[in-house]
Amino acid sequence: AFESIQMAPTDPLFGLMAAFRADSSDKKVDLGIGAYRDDNAKPWILPVVKKADEIVRNDPANNNEYLPIAGLASLTSAAAKLVLGGDSSALKEKRVASFQTISGTGACHLGALFFAKFNQRSKTIYVSNPTWANHHQIFQNVGLSIAQYPYFARESCGLDWDGMTSSLRNAEPNSIILLHACAHNPTGVDPTQDQWKEIAAIMKERSLFPFFDVAYQGFASGDLAKDAWAIQYFVEQGFELCIAESFAKNFGLYGQRAGCFHYVAAPSPAAEDLTKRVASQLAILTRSEISNPPIYGAKIAATVLNDPALFEEWKQDLGVMSGRIIAMRKALYEKLVELKTPGTWDHITSQIGMFSFTGLSETQVLKIREEFHIYMTKNGRISMAGLNTKNVDYVAHAFDKIVRE
Ligand code: LMR
Repeated sequence: AFESIQMAPTDPLFGLMAAFRADSSDKKVDLGIGAYRDDNAKPWILPVVKKADEIVRNDPANNNEYLPIAGLASLTSAAAKLVLGGDSSALKEKRVASFQTISGTGACHLGALFFAKFNQRSKTIYVSNPTWANHHQIFQNVGLSIAQYPYFARESCGLDWDGMTSSLRNAEPNSIILLHACAHNPTGVDPTQDQWKEIAAIMKERSLFPFFDVAYQGFASGDLAKDAWAIQYFVEQGFELCIAESFAKNFGLYGQRAGCFHYVAAPSPAAEDLTKRVASQLAILTRSEISNPPIYGAKIAATVLNDPALFEEWKQDLGVMSGRIIAMRKALYEKLVELKTPGTWDHITSQIGMFSFTGLSETQVLKIREEFHIYMTKNGRISMAGLNTKNVDYVAHAFDKIVRE
């Protein structure tokens, strides 16, 4: 049946990870995959996650039974509160349907499938140019067509505001618009709150459908409310919208695949009933794809989110991660300035979250890999978490050398 199947390319990011692992140089630096590392370049289990893990493991009621199709209720309800805010009118008015998913990827996929099957008005999703590479295949795989809105301005390494807004103004009404709620991947460039307000106004006027991907709440600024501000603002403006929420980065639960998909209906007397109907269809989709979501990571996240003392500790852990990344941005920037490296590097400190879009070209990226054993994606994205006090000078020197060539 598969005689004529073509060889597919290796996933660029996981391919890069394998190449890094295979490199035997003791100088090697991994600035590829977006996963937090401590100052020793090692994965970090959040202290609060260690505690929650013990609580879950030692709970006499712990078992490996199936979760309900919609997932662990104590996770999905806390996840909705986290992203929408405890006082959310949408939650009070019961117009939110929440489903546990296979992390953010699964949440994007469930949303994609839901749009492909039930959205009568549009099968087009606009993603930022650039966006997380996986967005393209997640949405295309279910038959949606992808359009792009300009996002990154090469000259300033900042937001292409005119490009973005004029593209949204010209988008077909009812198109779905994928928005990164905070810590845009791969650029690290976020709209300001005033810009978000204008984006919301344009989207309202053009009847565009917001689909938020939030993979870095609390991780970007260290402030959970601030990182969800855009979503909460859109909900206040009365949009019908969807949210893909990941707990991979902010809990360091990468391999546990804990996340949630939320559908929020626009306020109306029919909203509660509509939400129930949506939830019933999401249940069918979930059942046919994964039956029910995985239990362990969900329990860990739920334990933290529902316990006020652990929640406070989590905020501290988020502060440790975001604080170290901000310190590394500053260190890299200062070293490049000290070396008088040609070009401007302000964007390293003004960009936010896990990534920085350095502006290095593909040729420079490949050279830096070859000569210095520093690994980053071909688009010049670096994962800031790969930098530490021991390698930041080495990386700055490598950048300096490469841009002077
Ligand atoms: C990344 O962009 O590096 C992460 O979000 C990991 C992934 O799954 O792509």
